[in-house]
Amino acid sequence: MFAVYADSFSADDPLAGLVVGDRPDPEVPDGWTTVTVRAASLNHHDLWSLRGVGLREEALPMILGCDAAGLDEDGNEVVVHAVISSPGWSGDETLDPKRSLLSERYQGTFAERVAVPRRNVVPKPASLSFEEAACLPTAWLTAYRMLFVQGGMRPGDTVLVQGAGGGVSTALITLARAGGLKVLVTSRDEVKRKRALELGAHEVFESGERLPVKVDGVMETVGRATWSHSIKSLRPGGTLVVTGTTSGADLDNAELTRVFFLQLRVVGSTMGTRGELASLVEMLDATGTRPLVDRTLPMDQARDGFAAMAEGDVFGKVVFTR
Ligand SMILES: NC(=O)c1ccc[n+]([C@@H]2O[C@H](COP(=O)([O-])OP(=O)(O)OC[C@H]3O[C@@H](n4cnc5c(N)ncnc54)[C@H](OP(=O)(O)O)[C@@H]3O)[C@@H](O)[C@H]2O)c1
Repeated sequence: MFAVYADSFSADDPLAGLVVGDRPDPEVPDGWTTVTVRAASLNHHDLWSLRGVGLREEALPMILGCDAAGLDEDGNEVVVHAVISSPGWSGDETLDPKRSLLSERYQGTFAERVAVPRRNVVPKPASLSFEEAACLPTAWLTAYRMLFVQGGMRPGDTVLVQGAGGGVSTALITLARAGGLKVLVTSRDEVKRKRALELGAHEVFESGERLPVKVDGVMETVGRATWSHSIKSLRPGGTLVVTGTTSGADLDNAELTRVFFLQLRVVGSTMGTRGELASLVEMLDATGTRPLVDRTLPMDQARDGFAAMAEGDVFGKVVFTR
């Protein structure tokens, strides 16, 4: 079948190991099902995989892609939950030490078909297009859990989103606004700051700029470049939720004195549960809120989407269609 996959790793030139070609049909173990992919979306995770982060050499060749929406074996429209629990695990899948994401241990979604455990499909409402639904399982689910589960943000709270252009950042801005929060956003780029305002941010700031108020929560995906500013922006007792380190994980200053003196909470967050994905889908269905799509490409032109993300030239999600 047609597939977009990683054949080798390169830390400096991730696109060197990207192949648009053919792979065998997926194996379908007992209790699993096959989804015919209609749309899939790109995440930074796919670039990390091509750089050899989170993917083992023995697993190559590996079909990339965590996110998909498509048709199940009975023709129902579904969204795929990307977190694969180990057999027998019950409860919060994100706490399973043996969990994996599609494209890490099991073949990913940038293909004609993807095999997943039966419980990993969530019904897609007719109000969401396949392209919109394909944006949800990774970046949007991550943003949902950061804000409303791990961050405990409530309507009326003030939140700072670090970075404007990324898939997770744009999801955070949109969901925070839809959830009744006051939304402050930083970006290094003036054009992206303007676009964040159009997306629903109340106020925008240059990266590192001192904020006029202290915030209840900070949503952090950038890491080293913004960490210190994130800690300094919190009110006493505020919460920093961290889910990524795009600019690096080694901190110049962890700001530990502020953390204990101001009794800050630093909370990690990773992906989300199947139940949270179902709630996110229902939230979008009920509110009319929709993912921001930067560009939609036929899957055989996936390389162009990867290149745009590698260059930081995206605002919103890159979607591949079949
Ligand atoms: N733990 C999880 O479950 C999970 C799930 C999804 C994503 N993630 C991680 O979250 C991160 C973001 O993912 P994504 O798909 O949204 O990636 P992305 O699209 O490439 O986003 C990059 C973001 O980082 C900001 N940024 C990058 N370098 C920066 C710097 N030096 N200073 C300030 N801001 C900087 C950009 O903001 P501006 O360009 O606006 O400044 C942009 O908003 C990645 O590291 C990814 O691995 C983790």
